[in-house]
Amino acid sequence: MKLTLIAGARPNFIKIAPVINALNYAKSNGHKIEFRLVHTGQHYDNTMSETFFKELNIPEPDINLGCGSGTQAEQTAAIMIAFEKELIANPTDLVVVVGDVTSTMACSIVAKKLNTKVAHIEAGIRSYDLTMPEEINRMVTDCLADYFFTTTKWAGKNLNAMGVNDNRIFFVGNVMIDTLLSNRNRFKKPALWDELNLEENSYVLITLHRPANVDEGNKLRSYINEILTNVHRLPVIFPIHPRTAKIFSDLGISEPNLKITAPLSYLEFNYLVERAKAVVTDSGGITEETTVMGVPCFTLRDNTERPETIEVGTNELIGTNPSAIKPALEKLFAGQWKKGNIPELWDGKSADRIVGHLIKIFN
Ligand code: UD1
Repeated sequence: MKLTLIAGARPNFIKIAPVINALNYAKSNGHKIEFRLVHTGQHYDNTMSETFFKELNIPEPDINLGCGSGTQAEQTAAIMIAFEKELIANPTDLVVVVGDVTSTMACSIVAKKLNTKVAHIEAGIRSYDLTMPEEINRMVTDCLADYFFTTTKWAGKNLNAMGVNDNRIFFVGNVMIDTLLSNRNRFKKPALWDELNLEENSYVLITLHRPANVDEGNKLRSYINEILTNVHRLPVIFPIHPRTAKIFSDLGISEPNLKITAPLSYLEFNYLVERAKAVVTDSGGITEETTVMGVPCFTLRDNTERPETIEVGTNELIGTNPSAIKPALEKLFAGQWKKGNIPELWDGKSADRIVGHLIKIFN
């Protein structure tokens, strides 16, 4: 079995790491597997890419396509042009894509046009919000993929509704949680913990990067002000994504209890998540991680492609009106936040299941 694995942006690195470990484990057990790791270069800063490879022991990519930033079309086109050359030079049995970033979609299109099979890990999730580039990436990828590895049964139902037969859908659980559970005892205290005298359960952590939330400065300012005025003076830690940093620096917001930092490494960020009083975010992956660690999570979006984090986990959709933040924080400080449970098969063994299925399919 010969595979090409695609990783392009920060959340991809976290998802591909356990798949590589599971492939290497199968190889060490005598299975004939070859794989090539392709980094598209969508994320390229040290803090957005390299640190994840180091911390999660991901091998050096066999090639970095160096595609970098651009508009949605520029980025998609750059990845397609570069990946087409790569795939023609290095044909494979299967291209494995993860998640919903631009690299996921662009490489799926290229693979199918070169008559190469595609497996999509984290297939079938839907926000039904086509204003999000990720939703378009999910829809296109799932229209093209041959094999679908899902995190929930609901995702499988979405694929059925598109006409995908159950024999191509494999409910395996969540590879992002594989990484979380296998690294939980390695989480690393960031330097700011001691600098700010942080204490467990006594600070709030924010991450915001969706264009709808951060591309308009006034909206971002209202969110931050609402959070700061309703956290009872607790420290608020904001590791800032490059997209957000560009806009944030123009706002000139500076409050004694607000700590802005560069993006943190995986192990440092999750050290903070695990001990936070709450996390305020617009990320999808972080709602999964807070669910597994039982940390209250506020999502500043109007919809989610991960409803299980709300129905089963600790996440709540707060919406995108900044005035909704105050009542939500009041609920938190009144000790009334739900406790939550862990979704089915989010047990740290998803990548092993995926590799088990691939071996059956390709051998
Ligand atoms: C991408 C994903 C999103 C994911 C997020 C995690 C898509 C459509 N979106 O969004 O699903 O949650 O990554 O981070 O693929 N930039 C840097 N350095 C970097 C990377 C980006 O400065 O290493 C800047 C770019 O110049 C650009 C902005 O950040 O201005 C956005 O980067 P981009 O890759 O387009 O999308 P993200 O917002 O990171």
